[in-house]
Amino acid sequence: MLAKPCSLAILHPRLPSCTRQVFLSNFQFLIPAHSRYRSSLSAAAQSPLDGGAGAGGGRTGALSPPPVTDEVAQKIDVNPPKGTRDFPPEEMRLRNWLFHNFREVSRLSGFEEVDFPVLESEALFIRKAGEEIRDQLYCFEDRGNRRVALRPELTPSLARLVIQKGKSVPFPLKWFAVGQCWRYERMTRGRRREHYQWNMDIIGVPEVTAEAELMSSIVTFFKKVGISSSDVGFKVSSRKVLQEVLGSYSVPEILFGKVCIIIDKIEKIPIDDIKNELKLVGISEVAAEELLQVLSIKSLEKLEEVLGGAGEAISDLKQLFSLAEKFGYSDWIQFDASVVRGLAYYTGIVFEGFDREGKLRAICGGGRYDKLLSTFGGDDLPACGFGFGDAVIIELLKEKGLLPDLNQQVENIVCALDKKLQGAAASVATKLREKGQTVDLVLESKPLKWVFKRAARINAQRLILVGLSEWQRGMVSVKILASGEQNEVELANLE
Ligand code: HAM
Repeated sequence: MLAKPCSLAILHPRLPSCTRQVFLSNFQFLIPAHSRYRSSLSAAAQSPLDGGAGAGGGRTGALSPPPVTDEVAQKIDVNPPKGTRDFPPEEMRLRNWLFHNFREVSRLSGFEEVDFPVLESEALFIRKAGEEIRDQLYCFEDRGNRRVALRPELTPSLARLVIQKGKSVPFPLKWFAVGQCWRYERMTRGRRREHYQWNMDIIGVPEVTAEAELMSSIVTFFKKVGISSSDVGFKVSSRKVLQEVLGSYSVPEILFGKVCIIIDKIEKIPIDDIKNELKLVGISEVAAEELLQVLSIKSLEKLEEVLGGAGEAISDLKQLFSLAEKFGYSDWIQFDASVVRGLAYYTGIVFEGFDREGKLRAICGGGRYDKLLSTFGGDDLPACGFGFGDAVIIELLKEKGLLPDLNQQVENIVCALDKKLQGAAASVATKLREKGQTVDLVLESKPLKWVFKRAARINAQRLILVGLSEWQRGMVSVKILASGEQNEVELANLE
């Protein structure tokens, strides 16, 4: 079998090493052993991503383009690259339904939709705090020797756009986005290498009302899809809690992001390793002990006892809980000091949505990030937002039996009863479509039995048959499929 041009594109050695690796692990190639191609492929297969480590650092070598040759034969694996998904119609219907709900909920609160490129400059995602997300970056050099990356999240792009717009936009900005993100993650239930995220962000509001408003939108979404506060809750804390503890030990502010990233690993690595890492960045043993103690606090009253009532952490959190009551979602939220979040840029309230049965990873997460813009050279603006993935929520809806029944629905099926009438049937279809009716036009000569089967499969309400004698009289035959009632309708009156 000869290689087709499209398969050569897939195998192009100039593809980023990380991208190539994903392809390579998922395609079975039948490549002649003597082919030059094979050697560049095996070199590519030894990319640092193989072991899952150092994903971000894998630079592409200067591989020459593949020779265009007819001798490359291959048989492709029909599965998409590991961790990615196809969306055949039934999956696409579900995705559209989900995104429709994301969009509806965002618009209910007056948010405007924005989008950014999936491919961004790598520099946008390189932060100094040692976040996991940095090591999971799909990054490579493009043909113009620019370091680029597939976005792992939307927030840095949003920050970039806010800086670019400067003062030309009216604040506060209330923006939402639904976009695909890429992370070279270890695959677990609800965690993939490609996922879609719904984000809502408010830029320009320093008050906790913004966080409260965002959480209210998430609750609205959950209710809309049938999820209640007995299924899902939010754990809420504030990074200012950590800041206050560190401040009392005179830990320099510059270490703050790093400490948060270390603390965020508490449930993933042994506590001694956490203490060690804290020590390595210069946190004293006593400070580390106190930090860890504070992080185990699960009530706001207890936190107030430990920190005293005067600090911003307590006052922000109290205000949030009081607003939650007014918004009507206080049964959804609980204080939990262990919520820190794994991204370095958060500066205040942080929150995570979790399933109360504890079977799944975080459903969504967000918080305040008032200092992100200056890390990109812009002027800081108060900002907060959240990201809500498409994968965990679908798992949860499945668990709860809440997935909607989404069948294909086309209002009309139009069929010519004679090959010579296919043009006539096409004109009927056009007429109906112009009136906003959806039409599945039968494109070949098919027996009526086949047409009825298809009509049932697409849940058509009407079958419109174009037969010779009716057509000559300017009529078509219209059958209402639910009742079986059939009438001749004048073309001019067809609605
Ligand atoms: P994040 O916690 O990294 O935050 O991701 C937000 C959500 O995206 C997660 O709670 C989860 O639903 C989903 N998610 C993340 N990684 C994956 C994955 N590998 N597979 C499936 N789903 C995933 C952020 O990304 C922040 N930028 C959110 C934000 C917006 N903060 C402020 N504004």
